[in-house]
Amino acid sequence: MNINKNTIERIYKESELLTKEKITSTLKTVLETIDMNITKFWDKFPDAASNDLEYNLTDNHGWTTSFWTGMLWLAYYYTKDDKYKEAAEKHIESFRKRYEDRYDFETHDLGFLYSLSCVSAYKLTNDEAAKDLAIKAADELIGRFKEKGQFIQAWGDKNDRTAYRLIIDCMMNLPLLYWASEVTGDSKYYNTAYAHAKTTMDVIIRDDYSTYHTFYFDPDTGEKDKGITAQGYSDSSCWARGQAWSVYGTALSYRYTHDSSFMEHNEKLAEYFLNRLPEDLVPYWDLIFTDGNEERDSSSAAILACGLIESADYIEDSSIKELYINAARGMVNSLTDNYLSGKPEGRSGLIKHSVYSKPGNNGVDEFSIWGDYYYLEALLRCLDM
Ligand code: GLY
Repeated sequence: MNINKNTIERIYKESELLTKEKITSTLKTVLETIDMNITKFWDKFPDAASNDLEYNLTDNHGWTTSFWTGMLWLAYYYTKDDKYKEAAEKHIESFRKRYEDRYDFETHDLGFLYSLSCVSAYKLTNDEAAKDLAIKAADELIGRFKEKGQFIQAWGDKNDRTAYRLIIDCMMNLPLLYWASEVTGDSKYYNTAYAHAKTTMDVIIRDDYSTYHTFYFDPDTGEKDKGITAQGYSDSSCWARGQAWSVYGTALSYRYTHDSSFMEHNEKLAEYFLNRLPEDLVPYWDLIFTDGNEERDSSSAAILACGLIESADYIEDSSIKELYINAARGMVNSLTDNYLSGKPEGRSGLIKHSVYSKPGNNGVDEFSIWGDYYYLEALLRCLDM
């Protein structure tokens, strides 16, 4: 792996500052925010991104509602306090209703939605009904698979020929399918996830190991058409969050398939990302920027940190493994020192300076609920949990 010298120095310097005591005291602050939000959000959900650093409340729609449920499950996992379990279980009812109504269901993000809510419920509390619901969501998700092109359609109506594309983010939705095969013994979910992951690797990675955000196919033939962006700076630039999803997503597909090509890609994708980190190790919203006044995307740092720690388990080379862990810890330290909202402000979000979509002028320089979720996950991962 070829990472520039300055970045390596910054990584190790920041990583050393993240002591166990610092993580546990930060978790205390994080739990205080979650406790405040349990009352505030209760049976609603925070919006995907804040507005003037306050989350508006929504019903269960869009791709992000399960991140708040997921935070409750992580809090329960860490503390074993039933108040988090009760609050999360309240949401399971909402995810059931969403399934029954097929409300806002034309999306590949059923993976995020039903893994973080229902699979977590099953894993942590043996909730069989939540398990069945997650399997039903997996059935819906494989229904989006396109034989012609061998991919899961990202967004929109399954019959919409203009929506015939995959997106890099979907690598994170595949664990729902891998898991569904494990618990049902039916390989159809695994096969769909594996085929989609292989197609993604084939089309989404450029020669320099940057990634496209989205990739279109010809609906008649399944031939490759073109890569374009939806949330990045340009079709030829590299959207930071997409690259973070790619690092975490390749590790997750390796975890379930043991196909070594995923980890071969993973190292190159991570290398591209790490070499574009600015001084404080938190990337700009698009990796075309490495300095200047553009906004950061703190959520990408949190996702990448989790992805690097997950990946480290599958890396044999000890120096690369060590670099991955320290890069993750360095980023978490910087997020904690420079981005964490902090108790005195009494805000409902955790890490500031996230960007949802700069081209869409949506959630720019705000909290994002997935950024908060992955920051909490990263803190727990840094504690080896
Ligand atoms: N998956 C949508 C996003 O990362 O903004």
